[in-house]
Amino acid sequence: MAEVRMRVNGTARSLDLDPRVSLLDALREHLGLTGTKKGCDQGACGACTVLADGERVNSCLALAVQYSGREITTIEGISAGDRPHPLQTAFVGHDGFQCGYCTSGQICSAIGMLAEHRAGAPSAVTGHLAATGVPLSDAEIRERMSGNLCRCGAYNGIVGAIQEVAA
Ligand code: FES
Repeated sequence: MAEVRMRVNGTARSLDLDPRVSLLDALREHLGLTGTKKGCDQGACGACTVLADGERVNSCLALAVQYSGREITTIEGISAGDRPHPLQTAFVGHDGFQCGYCTSGQICSAIGMLAEHRAGAPSAVTGHLAATGVPLSDAEIRERMSGNLCRCGAYNGIVGAIQEVAA
């Protein structure tokens, strides 16, 4: 067993885990944070996306022990008290979901993606360089969010919500 200490949504947590436990299973099974979803469990769908020190991570591909000492933010940690995060409000306004299974991953990924873009960093998904000072185009949002799949096909609403917050 290995001791894993992380801050999760602003709270210090300590877990005694088998070193093979993924970050996703640590969050869901050991901390009860089931807002993060398990889709493919092999890095293909993005449903499990969380933020590690602000950077988006497919938590199914990450071992929890690798994230000891890091700050993890899940969908449960992005609102400010009773106030939803602006992306949550925008997703509702644009119907950026149907079944909702991918939504927590979509929103966490969008938070990380917008931070990457503001910092002028290359896309974590495509490696493309950001055009700093240039608003995100529909096509660039789709490309930068291409690691997050929506089986319901609610992409127009997802992109519209992200564009609203990015503006
Ligand atoms: Fe992690 Fe699909 S569950 S990418």
